[in-house]
Amino acid sequence: VRNFTIAIDGPAASGKSSTARAVALELGFGYIDSGSIYRCATLLALRSGITDISSHANQLIDLINKSSVDIKFQPSSSRSAPNLITGRLTVPDVRILLNDEDVSDEIRKPDVNRMVAKVASDGGIRAAVMSVQRALAKAAETRSTEMRDKKGAVKSVPGGVVMDGRDIGTTIFPNAELKIYLDASAMARAIRRWDEMNSKLKEEATKAKSLDTSDAAPAAERTPTEYPSVEDIARELEERDYADINRQHSPLRIATDAVVIDNTSMTFEQQVYSIADLARDRM
Ligand code: C5P
Repeated sequence: VRNFTIAIDGPAASGKSSTARAVALELGFGYIDSGSIYRCATLLALRSGITDISSHANQLIDLINKSSVDIKFQPSSSRSAPNLITGRLTVPDVRILLNDEDVSDEIRKPDVNRMVAKVASDGGIRAAVMSVQRALAKAAETRSTEMRDKKGAVKSVPGGVVMDGRDIGTTIFPNAELKIYLDASAMARAIRRWDEMNSKLKEEATKAKSLDTSDAAPAAERTPTEYPSVEDIARELEERDYADINRQHSPLRIATDAVVIDNTSMTFEQQVYSIADLARDRM
């Protein structure tokens, strides 16, 4: 019985993370969000006032090496937000701990979004982040086991891990048993990200309203200029993809042996089940 690695790469907001988490739950595998480590590195830079990455790369590498990052993937957690339950599939929650502090929300904020591709373009920083990623993936991997089926026959159940990012199939796990390149049209990706942000804002506004008894304008009624438009998000995604595709070190590429899935007009269930089926076919 051998372990099984699934690499899911693709451009920003193509649905890699939610798909990877649902696939991991479906197969009983662990999950690692490789982008979250670059986001943690970016947060470390922002918090220590490093804005010019190229001239402070060594300082940041030092900070990364001194920090601990942990990814808590909670397949059985009841904390999954209701909007993450799509049809029959549940997308399990994932929490990112940086030096034991839960930074899951902070690393998704606009200042991190704007800076992360710059941080990820430095070869030395990538090397530091990669060793964290590999160690986390190893620890997250579920173990293969042998079970008896109903007829008493011994059956092998592989364990494994799903990891998503930009260079998983090309650099981190070039021998992954299954490589997926997940893509969608630029507009579909921007609209999905915008929807996601809006439902989060609505959720926060409802929460704030139920706590707030003052006369202040509830978050939902604040001027929309505070929030990015679909066009703003499309531009930000485009800039990040451009940087990720054109950088010198492990740029975003379709691995030669990857299965390309364009999910622009697929349902979430369709893509999750098609990836899980591809994996089962290769086990
Ligand atoms: O996946 P996510 O959008 O959170 O990734 C944030 C950024 O981290 C990407 O835009 C990219 O610059 C970098 N990244 C990377 N290699 C990975 C994962 C993420 O360079 N494997």
